[in-house]
Amino acid sequence: MANDFLSEEKISEIRDRASILEVVSDYVSLKKTGRNYKGLCPFHSEKTPSFMVNEEKQIFHCFGCGEGGDVFAFLMKTGHFSFPEAAKELAKRYGINLPRREPSPLQKKEMAKKEVLFRINQMASEYFNDLLTRKGEGEPGRKYLSQRSVSEQMVKEHRLGYSPDRWDGLVQHLTEKKVPLDLAWELGLILPKKKEGWYDAFRKRIIFPIFDLHQRVVGFGGRLIGEGQPKYINSSESSLYHKGEVLYGLQAAKRHASEKDGVIIVEGYFDLLTLHQYGWKHSVATLGTALTTQHIRTLRRYTKNVITVFDPDPAGIQATLRTLPLLLEEEVTGKAVLLPKGEDPDTFLKKGNLKGFEERLAKAIPLIDFFFEWLMKTHDPKSVDGKVSIAKEGIAMIQRIPEKIRKDFYVRALAERLDLKESVLYEMIKSTPAERTRPGEGLKKRPPEESLPKSEEIVVRLMVHHPELIPTISGEGILDEFESPFLKRLGRELEGIFQKKGKLNLTEALGGVDEGLKERLCEYAFQENGVEGDQRERILKDCIEKIRRRRSKKDESDLLRKIKEAERQKKGGGLEALLMERQEMAKREKGLLKGGFRKD
Ligand code: GTP
Ligand code: MN
Repeated sequence: MANDFLSEEKISEIRDRASILEVVSDYVSLKKTGRNYKGLCPFHSEKTPSFMVNEEKQIFHCFGCGEGGDVFAFLMKTGHFSFPEAAKELAKRYGINLPRREPSPLQKKEMAKKEVLFRINQMASEYFNDLLTRKGEGEPGRKYLSQRSVSEQMVKEHRLGYSPDRWDGLVQHLTEKKVPLDLAWELGLILPKKKEGWYDAFRKRIIFPIFDLHQRVVGFGGRLIGEGQPKYINSSESSLYHKGEVLYGLQAAKRHASEKDGVIIVEGYFDLLTLHQYGWKHSVATLGTALTTQHIRTLRRYTKNVITVFDPDPAGIQATLRTLPLLLEEEVTGKAVLLPKGEDPDTFLKKGNLKGFEERLAKAIPLIDFFFEWLMKTHDPKSVDGKVSIAKEGIAMIQRIPEKIRKDFYVRALAERLDLKESVLYEMIKSTPAERTRPGEGLKKRPPEESLPKSEEIVVRLMVHHPELIPTISGEGILDEFESPFLKRLGRELEGIFQKKGKLNLTEALGGVDEGLKERLCEYAFQENGVEGDQRERILKDCIEKIRRRRSKKDESDLLRKIKEAERQKKGGGLEALLMERQEMAKREKGLLKGGFRKD
């Protein structure tokens, strides 16, 4: 894992010195069982412990949710640390010095510029907040907020502000503070006049500073006081502000989202303020954009349960349905709350429907059920054509669910709704390739259980538990013949480490592989089978034979297809060559069955 200021050796040193048992014990109460320690998984909710820690191997794994990895992975998965932060934390705890590698001159320049940009946003935020809370000129802002019953507490907590009905308020303020105005322009705070000079971008508006997770101001939103267009404006995209990534209110909501293990997502600034004001502090808002994968990844550091709240108009329904595939792929559970027609959370709560809102939250519908419901409404489930359409669209969505149990559950649910046999839907699943929203994503994800060939899995498990077999496995070249690209990659990684170091250090292997491989590797590491030495050899031999046999069968059927094709096209020469190949293959296969496995 390359990093700006952490060398490979440092990471290894930290890993060697740290005790995963100690670190995990800060979060989970663990009991010793045999060689492992067991406890309730901190990454999903469970009543019987399926979360294991192995101090000897320095790894953890949950047999319930599949999370696993080394001490770095554990800290990162708690949601409180990035990789470098986890390294720093562990270095501090175990008394390891971390030398900082010098950033390049270009990096230095960029960092310095970002600092300045943050300072300018901070200054602007103080200017707007000062006007709203202390200046006579802020009266219209105060009046507007009190009309909308926004509490002083919210003004304070979210550092709201007011921009006066003037063209040069902020321009003057920043000029006095000697701020380079072209940088304020870059942040979208001011704009150049046609000829010369600058003018304020935010005028006669309530100002909502938008914070990052470190409480720094990355941008602003502004609500016009009174009627007019545009009702809202936002900072322009800058090196600090990316609207597809930022969530309004997250800095205040994150702790609560973590504690409540859930987060409410709404659309507007005022909706967010009202929710926080009335005690639903685990709420965030998207800012005039649809929820993105980036948003979801940020949120899932705190919780894997989201509830979206929207009005039941067609646009709201479409927006909600669009988030479903993204949530499924990130293994985040989504539910939807419906408000009465024409209401948003702000108007609904301000009418005093506090209990009503809580009830709606409790009765939130899983998004996938909501989606099925919608399918049943848009197609006629009584007609055959309707059933086919519903099944197709439903399956395309189910395909995106990574966990098998959940997938099965929804196949059953869909079959019931359509009054069809589940097996019919499974047939359809087999014949529809899984669709993904992002190309290449499939490679990183853990493949579904059923798709991993057993014998290939056993070979890899043997590599993990009995690295002394790795030279034999390499010698046979069996990894080349693996059908599963996933297991092939995993096998290759292990082979590579063994060849380099002459042994297999599991935590080192874990440090070098991607998430999907990592989880699987941990899982295998915990599944010891205690097979005797000579048994191992026999098992390996059987597996290798099976893999070869299947492989040659597949080659054969490919070849037969080609032969038929050639016959159809009457390509004489080509056909002959193919037939020869077919004979050769048959001979090879006989040899293989008689004992293709080399004995050393
Ligand atoms: P209020 O009318 O003040 O209660 O706002 P709202 O949040 O109820 O407004 P609405 O439902 O119309 O919009 C939801 C969110 O979309 C807002 O909070 C903004 O983030 C965004 N939005 C709404 N109108 C505009 C606009 O004119 N321009 C931009 N850029 N964003 C808007
Ligand atoms: Mn509103």
